[in-house]
Amino acid sequence: MITIGIESSCDETSIGIIENGRKVLANIISSQIKFHKKYGGVVPEMASRLHVLKIIPVLEEAQKKAGIVFKNINLIAATQGPGLLGALSTGFTAGKTLAYTLDLPFIGVNHIEGHIYANLCDEEKEFVFPALALIASGGHTQLILIKKEFKYQLISNTLDDAIGEAFDKSARVIGLGYPGGQIIDRLAKEGDKKAFKFPSVKTPAPLDFSFSGLKTAVIRLAKEYNLVDKPKDSQIIKDFCASLQNKLIQELVQKTFLAAEQFQVKHIIVAGGVSANSLLREEITKRSGYEIALPALKYCTDNGAMIASAGYYRYKKGFSTPLSAKPFASFSDLN
Ligand code: KG4
Ligand code: ZN
Repeated sequence: MITIGIESSCDETSIGIIENGRKVLANIISSQIKFHKKYGGVVPEMASRLHVLKIIPVLEEAQKKAGIVFKNINLIAATQGPGLLGALSTGFTAGKTLAYTLDLPFIGVNHIEGHIYANLCDEEKEFVFPALALIASGGHTQLILIKKEFKYQLISNTLDDAIGEAFDKSARVIGLGYPGGQIIDRLAKEGDKKAFKFPSVKTPAPLDFSFSGLKTAVIRLAKEYNLVDKPKDSQIIKDFCASLQNKLIQELVQKTFLAAEQFQVKHIIVAGGVSANSLLREEITKRSGYEIALPALKYCTDNGAMIASAGYYRYKKGFSTPLSAKPFASFSDLN
């Protein structure tokens, strides 16, 4: 069964074509980063317009790469939300249009669920339920208990910034550029993680996340050590990146294992753009007693293949989305 997955929730226009929910035949990602870079973050209106320009060329490229013509396709899936509404509208409308004109079933996929299913792309592993998903992306930081397939319970959330946002904003404060996650990860490799001290994070509910206090500390330390004027490859910048990354990742990892113990899960599923972080990957696989799923690096960032995978499994379970459905911008119940 051939599924097309369309992703356009933020600054990537992407279309994946996959066979039986797992085998990725094509996964074309057209990133808009170079357009948003000079503004230090994603400009929503610009993102919407670029998706409109790119969606058809990306579809054509994906079909060519996969060797798939319209009559070979069995199912259309598209990201329904959460994300930037204007950006989502392009991919979601393209998906519904394809489903209508080709007379195919259509599934609207929650972007967060897509990140979870990125773990199955080009993989043979199975999710073992109950499982705990750590969602670590530019827009979300959540722990979700997956009781069984498609039965989700949100158990913790961030009270302010998302983890990816914390990486990106910190990088911006010290003048490292956008998106900051990969840059900090790279510089941190040659830094001393004990060089800078960050305050401990306290949240009323112990499993919740909060990164705004750390952001304030980043601003304070950047001023105190005049980090903006330091060469980007200097040792002090590398030390700062290593210390900050260590603090951010320890927050994620400690709370994830606390929740895994509390909810007695065996399987921990890591998802979202920050799952590409090398320290997170190292720290989360170090602890014994849990099976850990990490997506392949190429499926960590927003992409169409993960949407196709989630859409395929939803379709197999009997779900469908009417063509009258609309995209949604903010978090919506995953169930
Ligand atoms: O999931 P994603 O592609 O988009 C959203 O759904 O938000 O995540 C993007 C986020 C950005 O904040 C980016 O800085 C972060 O993922 N990111 C990383 C790394 N690669 C991407 N953060 C830390 N380390 C990385 N290696
Ligand atoms: Zn994402």
